Amino acid sequence: MKILFINGPNLNMLGIREPGIYGNSTYEDLLGIIRGHCNNAGVECDFYQSNHEGDLVDRIQQAYSDGTDAIVINPGAYTHTSIALLDALKAVALPAAEVHISDVDSREEFRKISYIRSACLFTVSGEGFPGYCKAADMLIEYVKGKKNDG
Ligand code: DQA
Repeated sequence: MKILFINGPNLNMLGIREPGIYGNSTYEDLLGIIRGHCNNAGVECDFYQSNHEGDLVDRIQQAYSDGTDAIVINPGAYTHTSIALLDALKAVALPAAEVHISDVDSREEFRKISYIRSACLFTVSGEGFPGYCKAADMLIEYVKGKKNDG
């Protein structure tokens, strides 16, 4: 099983951007945590980060035919604006989970809107970096359950 972890704009600035909200650890630290978790779980992981909406759409489309079984996505600010990302997730129809490091529901009003949520099976918000691992675990359980269903 292979999980693709997609991160949107400004998540490459983790460790620098608003440490009071996102913490002091870097994007590379995040990848290390996820890699370790996936190794322990016996699943493959792939990573993609971009600050550009169209590139994120392209990567989601690519997942349709590159052996990806599930997608964990933190679209950053595009969460709250992007119908294109919603449509891309619906187009590939892979099991997906939405992740936010911060608790988007307890911040500004505009962060309470998620355009991609309806294309995701799960949302994990406000659990920091471990939220990505929790989302991966939920997708692993879901995909395993599907396989057992035949
Ligand atoms: C975020 C929350 C978004 O509102 C914000 O624009 C981000 C990061 C999070 O991980 O908490 O860039 O998705």
